[in-house]
Parts: sequence; C-alpha cells; structure tokens
Amino acid sequence: MEESAIIIENLTKKFEDKTAVEDLSLQVSKGELFGLLGPNGAGKTTAINILCGLIKPTSGTAKIYGYDVQKDAQKVKELIGVCIQETAIYPYLTGVENLALFGNLYAMNKKTIKERSNMLLTKMGLTEDAKRITAKYSGGMKRRLSLALALIHDPQIAFLDEPTVAMDPQSRHAVWDFIKEQKTKGKTIILTTHYMEEAEELCDRIGIIDHGKLIALGTPKELIAKNQVKNLEEVFIQLTGRNMREEL
Ligand SMILES: Nc1ncnc2c1ncn2[C@@H]1O[C@H](COP(=O)(O)OP(=O)(O)OP(=O)(O)O)[C@@H](O)[C@H]1O
Ligand SMILES: [Mg+2]
Repeated sequence: MEESAIIIENLTKKFEDKTAVEDLSLQVSKGELFGLLGPNGAGKTTAINILCGLIKPTSGTAKIYGYDVQKDAQKVKELIGVCIQETAIYPYLTGVENLALFGNLYAMNKKTIKERSNMLLTKMGLTEDAKRITAKYSGGMKRRLSLALALIHDPQIAFLDEPTVAMDPQSRHAVWDFIKEQKTKGKTIILTTHYMEEAEELCDRIGIIDHGKLIALGTPKELIAKNQVKNLEEVFIQLTGRNMREEL
C-alpha cells in the first residue's frame, strides 16, 4: 500500500520574474500533520495552490495518493479539502446555506450534508449564527466557517492555509482540538501558520521555506535541538533572519 499521502519532486513555480517556489522536494506520509512555515512571501500559498490544482507548476511534479495533481486533477479533487488563505464564502448566503452549497458541489446527499454541517457548526462554535447572512459575520467567524466548508465532504487530505488567523484564543484552541481530532481519524493535514506555538503544538513535522526553497525539515523537537535554541520561534528567526522581507 502507498504510504505517502503527498510526494513533491523538484517543484518550481515562476511568476514572470519572481520564483515563488524553487526546486521543492518533499514527502508527507498518510496521517501526518505537516506544517509549512516561512516568512511572508516565502512561497507557502503558491506551493499549496499547486498541490490543490489551483495553479500550474512551471516544472516538477506533485502526487497525492499516487495521483498527479496535473494529469489526474479530478481524482485529486475528490481526495482533498482546501481552506484557502483568502476566505471563500458566499456573503449573501447564511452559514448553513454556504455549507449546503459546498456539499452539493461535492455531490453529497442531503442527509449527509445536514449531519456534517451540524457537526462542523458545533465544532466551530457557529451553531447560533448558522442562520445569519455571512456578510454580517466577524473576521474570525468567517475563518471558522471557511474551515467547516473545506471539510464538509470529509476529505482524506486537508490543506489549511493559515486557518486560525484573526481568531480569538478560544476559537483558536477549538480549532486546534478539531485539527487534532482529524488526525486521530487518520487524515493527512498540511497546515501553514505564522503562530509558532500553533506549529509546535500541532505538527508532527515541519518544513521551513524561505525564498521558495526548503531550508529545514524535521520534527519540532529535532529542529529545536539541531539549532540549539529553546523553541520553534527561535528556530524560525535563526534560519530566516530578523529583518523584514522586501517583497519583489
Ligand atoms: N499570481 C501571482 N503573480 C505574481 N507573483 C505572485 C503571484 N502569487 C504569488 N506571487 C509571489 O510569489 C511569492 C510567494 O507568494 P506566496 O503567496 O506563495 O507566499 P506565502 O509564503 O504564502 O506568504 P504569506 O505568509 O504572506 O501568506 C511572493 O513574492 C508573491 O508576491
Ligand atoms: Mg500565504
């Protein structure tokens, strides 16, 4: 049986004069919670967008459960759920209606949509607001609904691009619990975050990318030990430098 959920080989993405992802090779095992970390503009979202088939790589390959993200895009779409960085919610529908819409896109039956929606709304603390128009939701509520939408069809692999940004501490912890629960169900999760304590708490392994290149890979403990520092935040600063990045 194939043990890798994701195999990325020599993946490169160039935008005009900017190389957003450069020669990235990486393997993620089934059931692994993998954190992709890096400064603003490092190439995290670009890499995730390629894996989800949202953009084409310039060169290299990526396979999900053995399916090529380019050639077998349809198969890949059935396996994955994506919580993209920019919130994708229909503002003039309620929370429940958004979930039903996404469920229908995945050809789920009504009963399953209802069950999954209720469960996800509860986990995300949105039950009371489920029937409100989402245009009126707060930033953190929209983020929580996005996460629910990404997982409505119970995908084997979830790509979560900064899932807890703009969330209050209670919501963030609820999301952490939910992500951990997904892991106990054998799901594979790729997570990006700028919160180092979140990465340290959740991730089995971490890849740090900078200027599109993978510069470190290992468990949080391994990275901390190898760099002889106290925590992941210090690993991050040590490897990527203290200065703010100039976006080209
Ligand atoms: N569609 C595009 N056209 C041109 N350049 C792009 C495009 N998308 C991304 N880039 C550039 O590619 C680089 C990587 O961007 P990306 O969004 O992948 O970074 P990121 O690691 O997700 O950053 P952040 O932490 O800010 O979300 C940046 O320099 C960005 O400006
Ligand atoms: Mg990003």
